[in-house]
Amino acid sequence: MKKAIKTIGCVLTVLLFFVGVMVYKIYDYPVHSVKFDKSKFPKITSEQQLDQLTRGLIEQMELDEKIDQLYGRKMSTALTLVGNGILFGRTPNIYAGGNERLNLPPYSFSDGPRGVRANKMRTSGDKLGVTSFPVSMARGASWDVELESKIYDVIAKEMRASGVNYTGTPTINLLRHPAWGRAQETYSEDPWLMGELGLAAVNALQHHNVMSCAKHFALNSIENSRFVVDVEVDERTLREVYLPHFKKVVQEGNVASLMSSYNKVLGEYAGNNKYLLTDILRDEWGFKGFVSSDWFYGTHDGIASIKAGLNVEMPYQKVYQLDTIKQGIKNGEISEQDIDELIFYTLRTQLKYGLSEDPMEYPDAIIATPESIALTRLTAEKSMVLLKNSKVTNSKVNNKPVLPFSKSANQTVAVIGRLADMENLGDTGSSKTTEPYVITPYEGIVAYNKKLGNKVILDNAVDINASMALAKKADQIIVVVGYTHVDEGEFLLASEKANKSAKAGKRIGEKTNGGDRESLKLLPEDEALIQALAKTNNNLVVVYVGGSAIDLSAWDRQVPAILFSWYSGMEGGNALANILYGEANPSGKLPFSIAKQESDYPYFTPYTEKITYGYYHGYTLFDKKGIEPAYPFGFGLSYTDYTYSALTVITPELTEDGTLKIQVTVTNTGKVAGEEIVQLYIGFDNSSVDRPVKLLRDFDKIMLQPGESRVVALAVAAKDMAWYNPDAKAWQIEKMTYQVYVGSSSAKTDLLTGNFTIH
Ligand code: BGC
Repeated sequence: MKKAIKTIGCVLTVLLFFVGVMVYKIYDYPVHSVKFDKSKFPKITSEQQLDQLTRGLIEQMELDEKIDQLYGRKMSTALTLVGNGILFGRTPNIYAGGNERLNLPPYSFSDGPRGVRANKMRTSGDKLGVTSFPVSMARGASWDVELESKIYDVIAKEMRASGVNYTGTPTINLLRHPAWGRAQETYSEDPWLMGELGLAAVNALQHHNVMSCAKHFALNSIENSRFVVDVEVDERTLREVYLPHFKKVVQEGNVASLMSSYNKVLGEYAGNNKYLLTDILRDEWGFKGFVSSDWFYGTHDGIASIKAGLNVEMPYQKVYQLDTIKQGIKNGEISEQDIDELIFYTLRTQLKYGLSEDPMEYPDAIIATPESIALTRLTAEKSMVLLKNSKVTNSKVNNKPVLPFSKSANQTVAVIGRLADMENLGDTGSSKTTEPYVITPYEGIVAYNKKLGNKVILDNAVDINASMALAKKADQIIVVVGYTHVDEGEFLLASEKANKSAKAGKRIGEKTNGGDRESLKLLPEDEALIQALAKTNNNLVVVYVGGSAIDLSAWDRQVPAILFSWYSGMEGGNALANILYGEANPSGKLPFSIAKQESDYPYFTPYTEKITYGYYHGYTLFDKKGIEPAYPFGFGLSYTDYTYSALTVITPELTEDGTLKIQVTVTNTGKVAGEEIVQLYIGFDNSSVDRPVKLLRDFDKIMLQPGESRVVALAVAAKDMAWYNPDAKAWQIEKMTYQVYVGSSSAKTDLLTGNFTIH
């Protein structure tokens, strides 16, 4: 007995010792400097010099040292990642590269679509909360390129202050179908809007020498089966629909890096897809940066990935094993030059940004400043979309739109719904942020009404009869409905399970976190709540929180006002109050189309192993099939009205290297100042091949005072009207007469028309 106790004691002590060491290792996550010692390197003044420096360094490396450049560093293991999350609630930045002998520091990765993912690592374990912005889809709804630059200026600075100089953002995968779980991380269903915002992000990040890694290359628009799904696509669809925004950030933004996606493209995993990574990206587009794999499950075969052109395996060495690579060289399957070539791009890019002068210093104090917090609030205001705002008559108002709500005193305000007082910023996967605080819708509305002296009552909608009774006696009703990270987002925890379940064609076990939506409808309890409240009081607005389109056919005709507020960031509640009470005028417009019924969208299933992405989706599909959407792409209301007049095509005749120029007069005919998003679409009615009815090709967001008129100039280069001819393997500009559509949304009734000819 005594002996047994002794043995157990010994085992426990040893175990405890190991656990202690492990916890300490996790806690004591090393903080590496990513700064170059510039005194050890020549000043770089030309591309050739950069090439030479890189080649020179590679020449000095042993084969093992070269291979060491091919993966995230061993210290960034799953244990460190998960352990830090569970034990200390922090996400470490992940290192790759580096070679002490050659004075090369590692580079340091963090995600960041809505703010820096990695918490600042300090040996004390302290965390600094970062600025958390509305999700990318919200910013897509702002259609504001300048704003996106300002947002990424903040994110870039906070990254640098957090020791990060390589980031997995922006996400620029198309919203092919609204049920996609990670819709919120991207900008739009439209390649043009996506490309413009993605480019702004890349430029702002790289200005601060943060290497941007745009993701996921390519065709990653389904979540649950992302590890297995094989996406079939024809050449035209690939070139014209799914790749243009990637091409834009590569060619116009010189993006430092791309992340390959998990899925297969045309039968080959993206992480070893030579057609994507070498033929298109390097040979055709002239990409000078490096490709890293998506994490843990993004690589499958070391030799195939080397041959395909995958530069870095992240976050750690899985298929790029020393033995495999050395054996491959021995067999003649690959050569040492192949390795040289792969690491050339990574090292060259790292040197380019590492040796550039920083525009400023990045102290801790730069994180979550009053200015950046004001910017996140402004972003939330500029991205909310007012879908409906009907006139109502009740005891207080006669034939007036519900919003903005009256600012008079002695009102009873009811904020109702499961999500009304929830800190709900969206995905808790790789785009999660840790912010100093979050203002919920209820808190924002309370803070605003304090100034007015109004009573705000919170009702979490546990009992629908109680909610109805409250609505009956309230003067203003705000119903907050929608989703959380449980309903949509990155499909987590069950990665392996998801993989298997996708294979089995069904889900294993309960949905734990995120993933694609199985229905576009709101949860039944939300729909029931809206329908019940709509019967009791007409001074009501439905505020939707979520990252994509929903099917609102069951209730939208029953309610007078609908506002898409998205996952609106740490200041979302304050922004919401500002919109509801008219301190800010809504100016967001839908970055996607909302169909009347789910069957109007292209085929989608979260559990598919094979799917074809067709040429048409979103508004191009609806236009082509003559389907009327419930709410069109580019649509959003304001508290003022705008009229469009005097569309002038300044260049009615163009040559292939020319640029279409148009002008249109936009007037604010209402009583308050507002921002309008002016949209330009090109029409292809006369094409000799099958083409969309129209495509977005330029837009501008302008501020107009009441009564003010402005002449807005928009332009499109003829090359941006080309189609990809797969037989000729070339982009071709058709010589014909094109249509011009200019107006406030993609709906035909909202557009002025003109035409021009390319000779
Ligand atoms: C996601 C990427 C992300 C990476 C690192 C992956 O699971 O797909 O978008 O950058 O994790 O967090």
